[in-house]
Amino acid sequence: VQTWFRQDDIRFTQRGHLGDALRHYESGARLQLNQVEKCVPELEAYTRCLERDLALPSGSVSTTVVASTLPAWAEPHFDSYPAFTVHLRGTKRWFIGPEVCRATLDSFVLGHDDFGLRRFFDGQLPDGMPDDALVVDVAPGSVLYMPSGVLHAVQSHEHSFSIAFDLIVPRWSDLVVRRLTEHLQRSARWRGFALGLGETATESQRQDARRELDSLLSELPAALAEVVSDPDEILLGALPRLMPPPRRRYRLGKEATIRMVAPEGRDDEGIHVHVDHPVAGASEIEITPELAPFCRWLLEGGRSFSETDALHASRGALQSNVRQLMLAFLETGGLEAVAPGADASRPATSEGAEE
Ligand SMILES: [Fe+2]
Repeated sequence: VQTWFRQDDIRFTQRGHLGDALRHYESGARLQLNQVEKCVPELEAYTRCLERDLALPSGSVSTTVVASTLPAWAEPHFDSYPAFTVHLRGTKRWFIGPEVCRATLDSFVLGHDDFGLRRFFDGQLPDGMPDDALVVDVAPGSVLYMPSGVLHAVQSHEHSFSIAFDLIVPRWSDLVVRRLTEHLQRSARWRGFALGLGETATESQRQDARRELDSLLSELPAALAEVVSDPDEILLGALPRLMPPPRRRYRLGKEATIRMVAPEGRDDEGIHVHVDHPVAGASEIEITPELAPFCRWLLEGGRSFSETDALHASRGALQSNVRQLMLAFLETGGLEAVAPGADASRPATSEGAEE
């Protein structure tokens, strides 16, 4: 739980025990839980649905729950990603200002993070919420879309509760930088600690740092050329982040009708799986021959399974291909995540015991 509160006019953010958080809540703190879908798998149906409707990559919608009461106040800030907030209980007043920062990499609270913020600003930093800010009152059932970089603040009037669907979609710059970093990290010099920075460094340490950086930068064009020469690797780098969290269990979608179609006795061509789901609609997944045995295992099994079980059952097929197939099944409703404890038939494994 992340707790936001003020004491003696100083703003605090802390992560901690639920008991502490509730104590702060009673005196007006705002509580925030991120990535709630990791502990509430039922939310996954909603995140997948939103991803599908908005044509976003699977795994890029995450959920944040906020509980706040009078006089909780989310100070003027902007976020680095857009979000849909669904208001569930109580009422709140949102103040919405202009788009202040189009190119931000981080979320910023005005008046607190100005050092970092200045890197994205050419002109004058806004002082706070402007007088002509748009005022929006939300009640249960209200949905508010907040783009990234738009200044906003939120005031709670009473006990209130909302869930935000954060669209944390990888950007092209993220993919390329990630791949370039992977590439550079292979070199001992590039993965060396960047020392000689900051207030405590001596003049000679600073000069050493500058020399080291100049020397590394002279190697950068060659490294970049190598990364650019293999665009597929750049795309593959996004997959692990987009997979649903590990140590989750899955089962065939209860409401889905699934049919595997393969030419008689042949696994070498034309294998398709048709999935029909009341929400996701009808989909067709093409299966490569190496994944056919795994796919049969998937369709035969009546019980839930973990990702490890799936990799085991896939008999040496490429892990990334198995994950991609599971992702396709999740997207089409052919697979669904299982709520912890919901599947009484599942075997007691050490992995299951952790949930
Ligand atoms: Fe926000």
